[in-house]
Amino acid sequence: MGRYAMQGRDMTTHTAAPVTVVGLGAMGSALARAFLAAGHPTTVWNRTPNRTEPLRAAGATAETEVADAVSASQLVVVCLLDTSAVTEVLDAVGDAVTGRTIVNLTSATPEDARAVAGRVTSVGARYVDGTIMVPTPMVGTANAFVLYSGDLDALAEHHDTLSALGGELQSLGEDPGLAAVYDLGMLDIFFAGMTAFLHAAALVGADGVSAATFLPYARRILDLLGPTFAELAGDVDAGKHSGAQDNLTMELAFLDHIVATSQARGVDTAVPDTSRALVRAAIGAGHGKDGFSRVIDTLRHPGA
Ligand SMILES: NC(=O)c1ccc[n+]([C@@H]2O[C@H](COP(=O)([O-])OP(=O)(O)OC[C@H]3O[C@@H](n4cnc5c(N)ncnc54)[C@H](OP(=O)(O)O)[C@@H]3O)[C@@H](O)[C@H]2O)c1
Repeated sequence: MGRYAMQGRDMTTHTAAPVTVVGLGAMGSALARAFLAAGHPTTVWNRTPNRTEPLRAAGATAETEVADAVSASQLVVVCLLDTSAVTEVLDAVGDAVTGRTIVNLTSATPEDARAVAGRVTSVGARYVDGTIMVPTPMVGTANAFVLYSGDLDALAEHHDTLSALGGELQSLGEDPGLAAVYDLGMLDIFFAGMTAFLHAAALVGADGVSAATFLPYARRILDLLGPTFAELAGDVDAGKHSGAQDNLTMELAFLDHIVATSQARGVDTAVPDTSRALVRAAIGAGHGKDGFSRVIDTLRHPGA
């Protein structure tokens, strides 16, 4: 992954550079606390001013005008609800952004991230996009995980300060949309996985098995998924879909059982229906002897 991964902070050269945090929701506040804990002079701004109070009490400087907050530091970390909030705030900041590095940790689509990057760089600022892949309590700990893409020189320059957020900083490349691409890919798996577990819980629950009783068995499947993903990735990248050990026609029978058993218990079938429809489409296109990775064709070209 990426051109380089940066780990930890170099305490011997650490100079506690100033940093500004724009947006003090749950995540922005966690970011500001992590910078303060690492000794960085931290300036904060939030649309609703009273949210700055706990940070002020912890040693931050609170500004009432966002342009003043941005002017206070070379590095400005933005963490707002969405891109429309970021755009509104950039409108208010005006040319105070010129000469700064904006690290935007607001979740977005790749298109949004690239548009914000274009806007920021057009007024002479440097832009790094980022996505935080952990919940707020993990920010500032060794288990934090943040993905970055965009201006790699700016990222390297501010590496030490950003290391205060904890864990490993992953740099994905110069395209500012890449952090969002990886974010959405990872969340795609997260939500599909949660939905699949809940469907399974409803299915086994209909026969009196509690979710907790089923959990260790669900975990056995999770253990299988790691190596399975590696095989699928190899197949997808190679464009080869061998069904020598398990083919789609055989797998369709499993999916028929899951759908039929769900239906018989009045459990929603949307989850297994999705997998079954994909497998049926691949078989219909003449790939019944191929492995499951063949489904990528239908995902890439629905209706083809
Ligand atoms: N919380 C998490 O666990 C988590 C994890 C990973 C990533 N993230 C990402 O982090 C970002 C922030 O999440 P959060 O949990 O901090 O959200 P949040 O608690 O709902 O806070 C939202 C922030 O956005 C500000 N805001 C909203 N609309 C605005 C506008 N039009 N102009 C100016 N400020 C505006 C809010 O200001 P007010 O206080 O004035 O409303 C607040 O500071 C999101 O992109 C989220 O996806 C969050």
